[in-house]
Amino acid sequence: MARFSIRDSWRTQSTGTRVLRLMLGGTWLYGGLQKASDAQFFNKGSSGYIGAQITGFVKNSPIGFILKHMIEHATLAGWMILLGELAIGIAVLTGVALQAAILGGASVSLILWLSVTWHVYPYFLGSDTAYLVMWIALFFLVRKEAPARARKSPIPNLKDRREVVQMIGVGVTAVIAALAAGGLKKKIPAPVTGTKIVDLSKFPVGSNMQFTAPDGNPAYLFRTKVGVFAYSAVCTHQGCTVGYNSADNTLDCPCHGGKFDPANGGKVLGGPPPRPLDTYKVVIQGNSIVTA
Ligand code: FES
Repeated sequence: MARFSIRDSWRTQSTGTRVLRLMLGGTWLYGGLQKASDAQFFNKGSSGYIGAQITGFVKNSPIGFILKHMIEHATLAGWMILLGELAIGIAVLTGVALQAAILGGASVSLILWLSVTWHVYPYFLGSDTAYLVMWIALFFLVRKEAPARARKSPIPNLKDRREVVQMIGVGVTAVIAALAAGGLKKKIPAPVTGTKIVDLSKFPVGSNMQFTAPDGNPAYLFRTKVGVFAYSAVCTHQGCTVGYNSADNTLDCPCHGGKFDPANGGKVLGGPPPRPLDTYKVVIQGNSIVTA
């Protein structure tokens, strides 16, 4: 039985395979760490909560009938996604159960393509489509370059104690990484009230402006005959910053064509965003418009 070596698993591969492996393994590892350190991911009241994200994708996804069963177990689903991404990233970078890890990564990309990216038009703007193709290409490259004995099946040999120990090592490392990244979580700031945004005299009815919300995110303020409204400028699809389109009086996302209606609660008018823009409470107080 040949000795397993992380170094050898890289050395025996072609440059093209290494580039794909580094990019995909690194991205999946980063994705898992980013979720683990995101204070919103498991926070039921926040817009970034995994349950809110899944709910948003149910309506327009061809696998919505599966996703809707995940909503009531959203926290469990969130942990599975987070640990799955970490384990796949670590396995791809170390070469442990490499072919199985690549198939796992392709499965995650396929699910994201069918949910998050399904309505992105044109298709080449959807990153999950590109990741899925990269995983498939990496799978065939790794199989071609693997020694004959490893080409028989991509499924790890569970009778081989060393392979099982290596996989357990990947799982334990993923859990430790998740806990370590969770420790770096920033607290969600409590809403700051009474912060002045603009003088009322400088902001007549019909005006709009961009400002920085108390949580640090870019936001838009609108004043109409009905009152004052503020929306987060963070697109609810994949987080790009929306901009005001004066021709249509909409907030448009430059990434995948999302369109929101500021006159109607930030409602989605088009594109892939699964839900309206988040809102901030603002009020007129004396001669100013302030956060509430
Ligand atoms: S990030 Fe995709 S439409 Fe805004």
